[in-house]
Amino acid sequence: MKSEKISYKKYLQLDKLLNSQALKSLEHGNEVHDEMLFIIIHQTYELWFKQILHELDSVIDMFKGNYVQEENTGIVVARLGRIIEIQKLLIDQVGILETMTPMDFLEFRDLLTPASGFQSIQFREIENKLGMEVEKRVRFGNQRYDEHLESEDQKVALESEKNLSLFMLIENWLERTPFLQFEEFNFWKSYQKAVEQMINDDVERIKTNNDIDDTAQESSLKNYDSIKKTYEALFDENKYVKLLTAGHRRLSQKATLGALFIKLYRDEPILQLPHRLLTQLVDMDQLLTSWRYRHLLLVFRMIGVKIGTGGSAGHGYLKKTAEKHSIFRDISNLSTYIIPRSSLPSLPEKLKKELGFYYTYGK
Ligand code: HEM
Repeated sequence: MKSEKISYKKYLQLDKLLNSQALKSLEHGNEVHDEMLFIIIHQTYELWFKQILHELDSVIDMFKGNYVQEENTGIVVARLGRIIEIQKLLIDQVGILETMTPMDFLEFRDLLTPASGFQSIQFREIENKLGMEVEKRVRFGNQRYDEHLESEDQKVALESEKNLSLFMLIENWLERTPFLQFEEFNFWKSYQKAVEQMINDDVERIKTNNDIDDTAQESSLKNYDSIKKTYEALFDENKYVKLLTAGHRRLSQKATLGALFIKLYRDEPILQLPHRLLTQLVDMDQLLTSWRYRHLLLVFRMIGVKIGTGGSAGHGYLKKTAEKHSIFRDISNLSTYIIPRSSLPSLPEKLKKELGFYYTYGK
């Protein structure tokens, strides 16, 4: 059978795409010029959300199973890099909508009630697939977020909550980090020793510093007491479990250990891609938070502290989500445990060889 000749218009289904802007103001007999922009902005967001999900689903698939194929780490990093670039664009895009004035928005805003970006199922899928914790979600009207969705979207939202999220898969992957125990070398013990040495040196330096007065000295030493406690909780399983149960940590102690090894020894060739991946998780999390703050500013500028069309407290609700809806916070927080390069225990030669590329090693 001869297939129909393809054209730009047919391939992109422009007939459908460019005829999908139905202005409510026009339907009510009083077309508002800026409503076209409002619709197009939201539609482009949804298209980019679709692309993000396309990348995210493929990354999640690669992390399923008992090990991640070596060659896939590079693909994962490339795809997460693409998501990051899209996220930057999504933040920039807000500025285009801000060319609409609050007064122009008011011309058609009431026609949209009770529709709201709050009902974007793709946005919820992105949050859930990344690993948003359901019980930590900020609620409004004492209802779960999915109760504000249409029934077919509710099913999709619940499905995305049930499946393994990127957070969980990354946690499993980190728990499998190899080489933490390699012959005589025990990463945990050597790192703990280095930390103790570093803290003792710092405390000694404070005590022997004649340039600061007693009050400053006392306050610096107190500060070091709390730094010591932070490290202790990392090394002590019981203390760490307490942090987990109190909700101060989410990433398991074992995964944290693996992530720290990767972060501290990231210069070793085979750890470079895993380190990049950890950095990308922090980037994605921060960009999502940045988008939330950018959207919050947009909302304040457009409607002040009026309630949202979706029925929330608007500005107040969104501020809370920006503060609380972080997913990879524990990966960012690893910086608390970073020690200077100069204090880093050196790796045994044999282990260095395992972590390097054979054909250049020792040349
Ligand atoms: C004039 C522009 C906008 C205003 C005044 C506005 C207002 C609001 C308000 C008040 C909420 C809270 C829920 C509610 O009560 O409705 C909300 C949520 C939301 N909006 Fe917007 N919005 C605007 C543009 C956008 C755009 C362009 C997007 C892009 C998709 C978007 C996506 C969202 C999302 C995803 C939520 C849920 C956030 C969460 O629950 O964490 N909004 N918006």
